[in-house]
Amino acid sequence: MRQRKVKNEEQRLAALEYLQVRDSGELRGRWADFLKEKNESFAGEIYLEAGCGRGHFLAALGEANPDRFYLGAEGRSSVVLRAMELIRDKELKNVLFIPEFILNVESFFAENELTGIYLNFSDPWPKARHAKRRLTHRDYLKGYQQALKPDGFIEFKTDSKPLFDFTLEECQVIGLTVEECTKDLHRSDLPARLITTQYENRFRLLGKPIHYCKIRV
Ligand SMILES: C[S@@+](CC[C@H](N)C(=O)[O-])C[C@H]1O[C@@H](n2cnc3c(N)ncnc32)[C@H](O)[C@@H]1O
Repeated sequence: MRQRKVKNEEQRLAALEYLQVRDSGELRGRWADFLKEKNESFAGEIYLEAGCGRGHFLAALGEANPDRFYLGAEGRSSVVLRAMELIRDKELKNVLFIPEFILNVESFFAENELTGIYLNFSDPWPKARHAKRRLTHRDYLKGYQQALKPDGFIEFKTDSKPLFDFTLEECQVIGLTVEECTKDLHRSDLPARLITTQYENRFRLLGKPIHYCKIRV
């Protein structure tokens, strides 16, 4: 996808280098030690949002849970820039960014390193020939399964019914348990309705139902 340039992008990104984890593959298996050095309050639980967009969801989670660490992976530089500016403005010490497209989660995280993974409004890739690019394709799910601790979770939100149905089928094929599931999150009493993403707010204003599931590994 062509990336939209923002004004002074390079300089602005450079000024926020401290919020970016470069060569993050080299931290595989060592994330907890690395993050403890960044923030003394960190108690050991690491969460990833793959495709974090402008970071609103991570900012809210980071504020609510100061002893956890949140990593946002975002492949579009103009978008991750906005996310980092938000975290800088909120002065949060427990959110960092991997400024890359995550194609293979196992190359970033060793077994059992993550407690939870959030997939919010992932690109739907509607064409059948692009199914492998969907972040809930079984190949991705198997990678998440490896990186997550026993009893870890994946939370998935989307406005796309075809992507949601596909995701439930993929979970069934590889034997993952879907613990919570709704086709209209904001008419449910599930806790996931309480912290929303930027896309979620946009779709809610348009009256679109939000599909949500929580997958336990
Ligand atoms: C539709 S937006 C949703 C943003 C945000 N999660 C929200 O709900 O507001 C999807 C974002 O995921 C990013 N993305 C897609 N595939 C990705 C991947 N494999 N790794 C990192 N970012 C990815 C895109 O660049 C885009 O910014």
